[in-house]
Amino acid sequence: MGKLLVTGASGHVGKLTLQNLLKRKVPANKLAALVRDPSKATDLAALGIAIHQGDYMDPPSLLKAFKGAEKVQLTSTHAFTDRKTAHANVIDAAAKSGIKHIVYMPIARKEHSDFVMKQVTDEDIFTENKVLASGLTYTFLMHPPFLNTLPPFIGMNALDTGIRVPAGDGKTAPATREDLAEAHAAVLSQDGHENKSYILTGDPAVSYADMAAILSKISGKKVPLVTVSDQEYIEIKVASGFPAIAAPFALGWVKGYNRGEWDSVTGDLERLIGHKPTTTEEYFRGVYLKGASK
Ligand SMILES: NC(=O)c1ccc[n+]([C@@H]2O[C@H](COP(=O)([O-])OP(=O)(O)OC[C@H]3O[C@@H](n4cnc5c(N)ncnc54)[C@H](OP(=O)(O)O)[C@@H]3O)[C@@H](O)[C@H]2O)c1
Repeated sequence: MGKLLVTGASGHVGKLTLQNLLKRKVPANKLAALVRDPSKATDLAALGIAIHQGDYMDPPSLLKAFKGAEKVQLTSTHAFTDRKTAHANVIDAAAKSGIKHIVYMPIARKEHSDFVMKQVTDEDIFTENKVLASGLTYTFLMHPPFLNTLPPFIGMNALDTGIRVPAGDGKTAPATREDLAEAHAAVLSQDGHENKSYILTGDPAVSYADMAAILSKISGKKVPLVTVSDQEYIEIKVASGFPAIAAPFALGWVKGYNRGEWDSVTGDLERLIGHKPTTTEEYFRGVYLKGASK
């Protein structure tokens, strides 16, 4: 097996991917990480993983880092940055430096859907097209919403306030970053995923009413689903500490949930990781009952 390089390794998914590659018995000397700030990757360095300093906006740093790698995972960069240039630079550098296979993680889109997430959909489509035009072997791991970001969206204090979101009864099948990164590690370390797309989903799909029912069940008290306007939702998020720019972004995700944009349950994630992904109920138990006696 050639060398596997993961970008965004100072972040959640990148780091978890590398940790899962080690769990899969890929030797540390076959692994490399690209980070902007190596001080955020001392844990990975201690595991024997080669750390390369580089920035998506600095093509020479990418060329240097990618030298000798066979596969690269392009970890999407943050919203509200120039994601198209950043991703294009990574793809160009991968092609120029002789990397054979690129793994990318767009947010899943429903076929024929006209739903657009600002800062996400357009940039993802651009990146996928750029990968396809690059001639590189690819794997697209289409992501659902992270289960990890769901509690802040519905309220960390939802047990007390109820779930306060705009109206809608669509379902979503979110998955944890941990399960998704396990799938990334499977794809990077195995053959057979060349030029394929997988739609990674949790199981089961849940609506906000289902989430209120889950919270009621696990807490033993009635947690209501309260309908609020879009503006009220934004105000609630800002009051709870979301930066002003992030609150409308969170509303965008909620609207996607409500229209059932991510309601499919494909089984792709379970097949790749070989076990059931964490469910919303299991995840909520860990978050909302932390420190509780039940
Ligand atoms: N499916 C979902 O629900 C969902 C939700 C939120 C985000 N996402 C997407 O999924 C991505 C990964 O999620 P995550 O939780 O792992 O995010 P994260 O923890 O914020 O990690 C993002 C990584 O990208 C790196 N990065 C950003 N800009 C870079 C640049 N110019 N050059 C080099 N590295 C750069 C960051 O480095 P630094 O540490 O230096 O910043 C960080 O390591 C996010 O970036 C976002 O695009 C998906």
